[in-house]
Amino acid sequence: MRIRRSLVVAALAAATLAVAPAAAFASPGGGTAPIGPGAHLTATQPSLRVLSMRSGLKVGTAVNMDLYGSDAAYTRIVDQQFNTVTPENVMKWQLVEPTQGTYDWAAADRLVAGARAHHQLVRGHTLVWHNQLPSWLSTDGVTTSFSPQQVRDLLHKHVVDEVTHFRGQIWQWDVVNEAFNDDGTPRQDIFFKAYQALGLDPLGYIADAFRWAHQADPHALLFYNDYNLEFTGAKSNAVYAFVQQLQAQHVPIAGVGFQGHLDTQYGFPDLQNNLQRFAALGLKVALTEVDVRTFVQPDPAKPGSYTDIPLTPALQATQESYWTQTLQACLAVKQCISYTVWGVADSNSWIPGVFAGEGAALLFDDSLQPKPQYQDLRHVLWTTKAPRRV
Ligand code: G3I
Repeated sequence: MRIRRSLVVAALAAATLAVAPAAAFASPGGGTAPIGPGAHLTATQPSLRVLSMRSGLKVGTAVNMDLYGSDAAYTRIVDQQFNTVTPENVMKWQLVEPTQGTYDWAAADRLVAGARAHHQLVRGHTLVWHNQLPSWLSTDGVTTSFSPQQVRDLLHKHVVDEVTHFRGQIWQWDVVNEAFNDDGTPRQDIFFKAYQALGLDPLGYIADAFRWAHQADPHALLFYNDYNLEFTGAKSNAVYAFVQQLQAQHVPIAGVGFQGHLDTQYGFPDLQNNLQRFAALGLKVALTEVDVRTFVQPDPAKPGSYTDIPLTPALQATQESYWTQTLQACLAVKQCISYTVWGVADSNSWIPGVFAGEGAALLFDDSLQPKPQYQDLRHVLWTTKAPRRV
């Protein structure tokens, strides 16, 4: 293994970063294809995953299972460019237990099988979240027809059954997702309210979920995952204090996921500081859902619709600098073990459906062609001297 790694690094050092003519883009080749003497970088080779071997940082994507396996170009990018994958939706409670007591693991199993076939690690996403709950449990995340004790029992069964189903196949689990509001207060969802009504610590559902998950799969790395932790402020401070409480209670938390949904209008966060201070607690950290949205040009052919082209060249440049800085921040912190982008192409990003007039948030365009930000990430992986991940 060590020999193979050093060969790859040496081969990388021999290659140039010149981008080949567009025709070279069509060239096939797996993400771990060897780079022989005299090889040069084509538009997509070496892949992100090959370049990531210099530092050992895993580079991943969220995968849309409606496209994976049916859209050949999409599937090729997932398989060739990344060495970790996250199901964008298919491991969420709503999808795995659409009818109470009846599990549907088919799509998630397909993701895990694809990952195994392509030597990728899986980030399980996500066990406990107020959103995308099955409608039989809650349609809004804050109300339910079940009693507090039933909610606790259902949560226990869900966590144990899902983690058990995938035991041994998940590298990192996002055990709890988005449990805090931006002002640092806990989100008062059905789990918080159930524990409160039972006279327990309202946030005790989080410690329970980590303990149950750990019992079901002691080898999985268990993460708390949230957005806006990138910025120092009320939310990241609250989560920072909270994970220390979990550690004091010997809750088996291994890491904190920084989602990294950035927008050019809000400025670039002090991300490296925040990664560093969580890492200093003895935790692993990860960038788990990176995308960088900006304002995009309207589509003249379809009134009310938008293209995936930034409104101005300046916004494109700002996006690129955010991509570069997020990856640099992760690389600079040794405990940052993975960097996952939230989707492959602008055409399958969640952004336009939620933020009207914004988009262009990913590395590949609507036609699945690589964008400058994709090349920026390759350049960073290629040029940054980063501490090796263990
Ligand atoms: O599955 C149904 C389908 O049956 C139905 O026909 C269709 C009609 O709209 O909806 C489909 O469900 C959609 C689901 O994605 C699966 O495609 C939901 O409407 C849609 O809201 C849902 O969006 C997902 C969103 O989470 C839900 O909040 C996005 O794809 C997904 O990217 C997004 O991911 C989250 C992370 O899990 C957590 N962090 C934030 C991130 C972005 O919101």
